[in-house]
Amino acid sequence: MENMGKKGKVIAMANQKGGVGKTTTAINLAASLAFLGQKILLVDSDPQGNSSSGLGISCQDRENHLYHCFLGESETQESICQIADQKNLSLLPTHIDLIGVEVELMAAPRRERFMDQILAPIKTEYDYIFIDCPPSLGLLTLNALAAADSVIIPMQCEYFALEGLSQLVRTIRLVKNSYNDRLVIEGVLLTMFDRRNKLTFQVAKELRDHFKETVYDTHIPRNVRLSECPSHGLPVLLYDKDSTGALSYLSLAKEFYRKQQKSRRTEK
Ligand SMILES: Nc1ncnc2c1ncn2[C@@H]1O[C@H](COP(=O)(O)OP(=O)(O)OP(=O)(O)O)[C@@H](O)[C@H]1O
Ligand SMILES: [Mg+2]
Repeated sequence: MENMGKKGKVIAMANQKGGVGKTTTAINLAASLAFLGQKILLVDSDPQGNSSSGLGISCQDRENHLYHCFLGESETQESICQIADQKNLSLLPTHIDLIGVEVELMAAPRRERFMDQILAPIKTEYDYIFIDCPPSLGLLTLNALAAADSVIIPMQCEYFALEGLSQLVRTIRLVKNSYNDRLVIEGVLLTMFDRRNKLTFQVAKELRDHFKETVYDTHIPRNVRLSECPSHGLPVLLYDKDSTGALSYLSLAKEFYRKQQKSRRTEK
């Protein structure tokens, strides 16, 4: 993969529905793109800290993390850590205290702009910056959307998956109209795809009918390796590189990259 010249494209991983694969996708798409030679930063903007622990970073041990950046107590650069054995992958870790941000910054002026300011000084050092959002449409997700160029929406193909989707799409439109006119939906990703379940295909069809080519051709099947690897602090590529989980995220990374090249060509 050629290096397209660092531009620091920011992509939020968002869906207010819990447990749909936001973090799994953030970690494994980031790690796969890093493996393919892209310089990647993953920002863990969820107080649960699953992206941080999933990459082997214990938030409790660290002095600086995203919470301090939000409070202006720490420079972005000094809060970022390099992931062991993955030279192209860095993480801006989180901490459970980040929960407080939702309340503490509620009355702050331009309260949706913090993430944008946090990323501004380091943006151009990376090819892509992914923000893992919490399962809500609160201030943290709002900040991620206001700072992002685009959004990836992971969707689990089950009955209730489509519920809440219109609310998410409305929020994205609202952020675009009010704060950030760059914002677009980068892609909708079908996760935990289960071939044995008829409903999976029905939901997938509805999503493709609605979102058309915005839905990635690659879908991520249910794979036990993907659920095991976070407890080892490793992306699936380093945990079991031949698993279907690893191969699926690698194929997503390639599709993602092809789309980027294509949109750059049309921009020119
Ligand atoms: N393709 C998959 N196959 C098997 N298990 C998966 C897959 N994707 C995610 N999981 C598991 O499902 C659970 C939820 O996934 P994940 O944490 O990525 O979702 P999330 O949207 O980030 O959740 P939250 O909303 O709580 O942040 C996790 O235990 C994860 O390991
Ligand atoms: Mg998560």
